[in-house]
Amino acid sequence: MQISRHPTRPIEGQVPGTSGLRKKTRVFMQSHYLENFIQSIWNAIGGLEGKMLVLGGDGRYFNDRAAQVILRMAAASGARRVIVGRDGLLSTPAASHLIRLHGADGGIILSASHNPGGPEADFGVKFNTANGGPAPESLTRAIHDESLRLSEYAIFEAADLPLGQIGEHSFGGMTVEVVDPVADYRALMARLFDFEAIAGLIAGGFRLRFDAMHAVTGPYARDILETALGAPAGSVVNAVPLPDFGGGHPDPNPVWARDLVAHVMGPGAPDFAAASDGDGDRNMILGRGIYVTPSDSLAVLAANAHLTPGHAQGLRGIARSMPTSRAADRVAAARGLPCFATPTGWKFFGNLLDAGHVTLCGEESAGTGSDHVREKDGLWAVLMWLNILAVRRMSVADLMAAHWAEFGRNYYTRHDYEGIDSAAAAGLMEDLRVRLPSLPGQDFAGLRVAAAEDFAYTDPVDGSVATGQGIQIGFDGGARAVLRLSGTGTEGATLRLYLEQLREAPEDLHADPAEVLAPVARAADVLAGIKARTGRTAPDVVT
Ligand code: G1P
Ligand code: ZN
Repeated sequence: MQISRHPTRPIEGQVPGTSGLRKKTRVFMQSHYLENFIQSIWNAIGGLEGKMLVLGGDGRYFNDRAAQVILRMAAASGARRVIVGRDGLLSTPAASHLIRLHGADGGIILSASHNPGGPEADFGVKFNTANGGPAPESLTRAIHDESLRLSEYAIFEAADLPLGQIGEHSFGGMTVEVVDPVADYRALMARLFDFEAIAGLIAGGFRLRFDAMHAVTGPYARDILETALGAPAGSVVNAVPLPDFGGGHPDPNPVWARDLVAHVMGPGAPDFAAASDGDGDRNMILGRGIYVTPSDSLAVLAANAHLTPGHAQGLRGIARSMPTSRAADRVAAARGLPCFATPTGWKFFGNLLDAGHVTLCGEESAGTGSDHVREKDGLWAVLMWLNILAVRRMSVADLMAAHWAEFGRNYYTRHDYEGIDSAAAAGLMEDLRVRLPSLPGQDFAGLRVAAAEDFAYTDPVDGSVATGQGIQIGFDGGARAVLRLSGTGTEGATLRLYLEQLREAPEDLHADPAEVLAPVARAADVLAGIKARTGRTAPDVVT
């Protein structure tokens, strides 16, 4: 086997963010860029000698080239085996499952999640550890440190592997096993959910539509929803993964999946609709005439989990990211379950899941998941909803109404100000931090601040501390605003403003969320000076 050792120099800015290293595709395609980052991962985990990895991605532009480079670099560094999805494809949750199923030492997922794909769009690399979950902050810091002292990388000089063929290939001293990306994942879902009950619901005339947004879940959704559960052909739309996702943002929210939302709001709407993102870890849930917020979805899944075979024994606890609405907390309180609020990003759930403190986790950004893998899982959430609907035999709208009547309704929305000047964004947050102690008791646009904090989290399992995780403002009357800067963007800064208002009176449960939350939005704007500091009069994206 011919191994080349290429001299290289550290590249600035190889800093993994909320979810892996994300950059413009052209940046990743620069000479040595990908190689440097991959070698930094190998170095940070103590080398690859004798190790087993899982590899796959969401099929975006450069996925195929990057997979070949990574395989050659794994062979050069002495890996024993790499399990790779056919054509280099694996959804993020399927990769997490394969790592756990095979007891692999970790895995690499090629994705920039819901960011657009293509030569002028975004690419990303995530490293997951042996538990199947995203690398914790201690490791992402170590990877960055390695990237700053790198002087060479090793690569096996070989022709491309035929990744379209299922089976084993020997590659230098390493074995590459190309697997069907769907099969093991489908088997896991069939264990967790009552496929017979869901198939019965569908056979009885229940109509569903799943929008794969030309991203990685197309083959998974077709195989499970159409082939295994009997949904008519064509129930899965935009099912063929494309390198540029058909030119769209593969982000399942009311903005980027507006066609699907229009479909459920119009005549002839199906009973249920859903979408997933680029790499298959996010989900959006809709019913006829209704959009379910991700925060509400987490709460509904928590309240009904015991109706599904995978959670028949009940839940151990629930975790949500801090900006996610407190709807799940209300279910936890009513059921006597522990409830945790973590910083944004799935990596913070890993320890809680591994230690058995929680069973369900969720984020307001369309992420829900359980202890079946160590990632959020879009199709899992869809199947859980279908299983619950098959048992309860109610419409999505009726189920939501019953849920709010029992637990109250946490009205919720998120406003994103995208591509704003990085210095202005940092200044806004810094100024807020300085003023935090003086805020309680002050009125802003008619709302009085009850509490204000810069969110910090101490992991209850390993004691690690994450600070500066977002500014949380509580107002009298149960309203809340959270402000934080995105850690996944690739251009300028994105300010996220999260707004929440609890209503419990029966006559208050069916209002327009935008109206209920308008006073909180006004107070947050005055308090933080968003318009003044960013020059924006309105958010770019409201979800
Ligand atoms: C965003 C979401 C966050 C999610 C992450 C990865 O991160 O807000 O909940 O975990 O994408 O999907 P952000 O850009 O806000 O840092
Ligand atoms: Zn994703």
